[in-house]
Amino acid sequence: MTSSKVTVSSVSGTPDASRRIRRIVDKLARHKKLNIEASRQALRDAIKHANDMHALGFLHYAGVLDLHLPDGTTVAIIPDWHIPAHDRQVTFMVKQWLSDLRPDIIILIGDAADMFGLSRWPKPPRVVANTQSELDETRRIIDDIIECSGCMHVFYILGNHEDRGRRTQIDPNSNVASLIDPSTQEPILNFHFLMGYKPGDPITFIYGAFEDGGFGGGILINGEIKFIHGNKVRPKPGASPYAEADAAGKSIGQGHTHRYAKRARRNTKSGLIRSYEFGFLGDERHPYLGYAFNTNWHQGVATGRVHGDLLHIEMHPVKKIKDKLTGQISSLMLAGSKLYQSSGY
Ligand SMILES: [Fe+2]
Repeated sequence: MTSSKVTVSSVSGTPDASRRIRRIVDKLARHKKLNIEASRQALRDAIKHANDMHALGFLHYAGVLDLHLPDGTTVAIIPDWHIPAHDRQVTFMVKQWLSDLRPDIIILIGDAADMFGLSRWPKPPRVVANTQSELDETRRIIDDIIECSGCMHVFYILGNHEDRGRRTQIDPNSNVASLIDPSTQEPILNFHFLMGYKPGDPITFIYGAFEDGGFGGGILINGEIKFIHGNKVRPKPGASPYAEADAAGKSIGQGHTHRYAKRARRNTKSGLIRSYEFGFLGDERHPYLGYAFNTNWHQGVATGRVHGDLLHIEMHPVKKIKDKLTGQISSLMLAGSKLYQSSGY
């Protein structure tokens, strides 16, 4: 295994904080050759330190976070979960996968919370939406995956659904959105504040450059692949991230469309450009997702591993199978040579 220099860049903290982070990550690069656990701890310390110094912001970052990960880093990529309209059986399976994978980092690429209660869409009759319980359940599941995976950090890229809170504030009077909480010096009712995490917790919320969700924020890994929630929506699987990659001139991994595809092409200027859309983990039978007809939606997750300074990605589509005897439908997923199967319904 080769080892590359590790940096956590795009820091907006003090020059002193930047120097200290660089020293820690340089130390990590040396450790990586010696001891995986020591390097995991060093990366954890580097991220925590960056958060403590507000270099990544108070639990949040606005814009595209430039993150350089060392060879050997394992990343779990989880698309649109839409909690509490998530597929419960598939979620159980995903937790088993995370327990086996033991990723260093988890990337949630937006819409992990559905925020149906704050949407402007007409609500179907008898559908009750409680925003606080939606947030509570999202928090509970994120806490679960941090614990069961043993990961050192979650990067939560906000999607258009998390942005519903901000849009709700702007709607009656845009001035409400600019009110500052005196204790945190941050806009009131921002998403990470509502989720109740504190500085030093192993999570960073990635907003768009204007503190909005969904459009503009993301993570650039090793200068090559950008993870975003996504904005462009094309009807054919693979076409949306292809269009995003064209616009960015970089490889793209995205959610948002709920479609599942990967494509690659060679560009004389930038070499290989990859584009991925990772699907979703929602339950199409849930009334919150009642608009999901003939949309080419597909469930899935993905594993990434850094090698040769490049994040290699393996996608794990979820297939539905029907038991011939009982007629029950269960979900199947192949990851790391292991077949995961959910209970049926
Ligand atoms: Fe979504």
